[in-house]
Amino acid sequence: MKKSLVVLLALLTAASLFASGGSQSGGSSSASSGSALIGIAMPETTVLRWVKDGNSLKSEAEKRGYRAELQNGNGDQVLQNQQIGNLLTQGAKLLVVGQLNDGVASAISDAARDKVAVIAYDRIIQNSADYDYYITFNNFKVGQLQGQGLVKGMNLDAATAANPKYITYFAGSPTDGNAFFFFDGATSVLNPYIEKGVLKVVGPAPKTSKDTAEFQRIATEGWLPNIAKNRMENLLTGDARNVTLDAVLAPNDTLARAIIEACLADAKYARKLPVVSGQDAEAASLAMIKSGQQYMTVFKDTGKLAEAAIILADQILKGVANPTVPGAVLASSIGLESIGDTGKKVVKAYLLDPINITQDNWKEPITAGFITPDEVAANGLQ
Ligand code: BGC
Repeated sequence: MKKSLVVLLALLTAASLFASGGSQSGGSSSASSGSALIGIAMPETTVLRWVKDGNSLKSEAEKRGYRAELQNGNGDQVLQNQQIGNLLTQGAKLLVVGQLNDGVASAISDAARDKVAVIAYDRIIQNSADYDYYITFNNFKVGQLQGQGLVKGMNLDAATAANPKYITYFAGSPTDGNAFFFFDGATSVLNPYIEKGVLKVVGPAPKTSKDTAEFQRIATEGWLPNIAKNRMENLLTGDARNVTLDAVLAPNDTLARAIIEACLADAKYARKLPVVSGQDAEAASLAMIKSGQQYMTVFKDTGKLAEAAIILADQILKGVANPTVPGAVLASSIGLESIGDTGKKVVKAYLLDPINITQDNWKEPITAGFITPDEVAANGLQ
């Protein structure tokens, strides 16, 4: 009886989601109907954080008396553009957009036409001069933390040219500006070891993301885990056939787990996995850090990012000329203007600080309330 009720409710929820074309909220909200509408367009659900980001943005907006409408593009830029169009039709006064690729630029120019302000959320909106604000983490530092983690995990400072360490590289989606900063941050730490001859790169070896052809070979279109898993499997039987890898630069947790899965299927790594980096502090990866299968992750408190984005939105909607966001620094103030460069203009970029997580402090994202009690239970993180 109880079980059939649960099934019925699940079906009804699925049906209503379907009917609203992927919308994750009704048009109604607890705030008064006279308050301004903030439109929230998130990119995908393959990487769990975007579901959390969307929910946090909506509740932070409502907390401040705004109405909020949340959409998710499910990895499809055409769908995301339609959703942005719908948000504009509904009269949104400001949009918070986590983009998929630069195909979003036309939707952003429609927003500018309607005099609707846009905040690029976490990912820069490239090839557009039609918006002014971007809020994200210090993505270069994310990469530095990954590089530093790998150095420590491999004990690279003790390696010699006669007995070097072996690493292979993976990067995120080439459609996502963040992927370039993550990689450049990581190689800024690793390159000196390569120059000394104590670290060897197996497979494509771009020095920076500007080595375009080589970077494309390590990039993972759409951040899709299957692509990374296949590439790792091919590496293990190809370029890495005659060496034992000490480390893998993996740009986020979803890809790290796919890479580790490929390694676990190879008898050579049954006793000792390579040191693998990550990002996002996903519960499933925290469990693997706890057990020693994944070496590190980078914790970006997306609850704080969402709060900061809405604090920014509130000031923009109130016409504040130079908004300030507590806990965030302007990229220009720390010499990272390029983080805000869309290719057509440099927007104001606000950066939050990422945190390094290893076996020493894997509980931190739980203590911070970033991991829900359900996730703690489901992933054995007690
Ligand atoms: C985000 C990462 C995320 C990746 C894949 C990036 O833009 O900054 O946190 O893992 O996209 O969704």
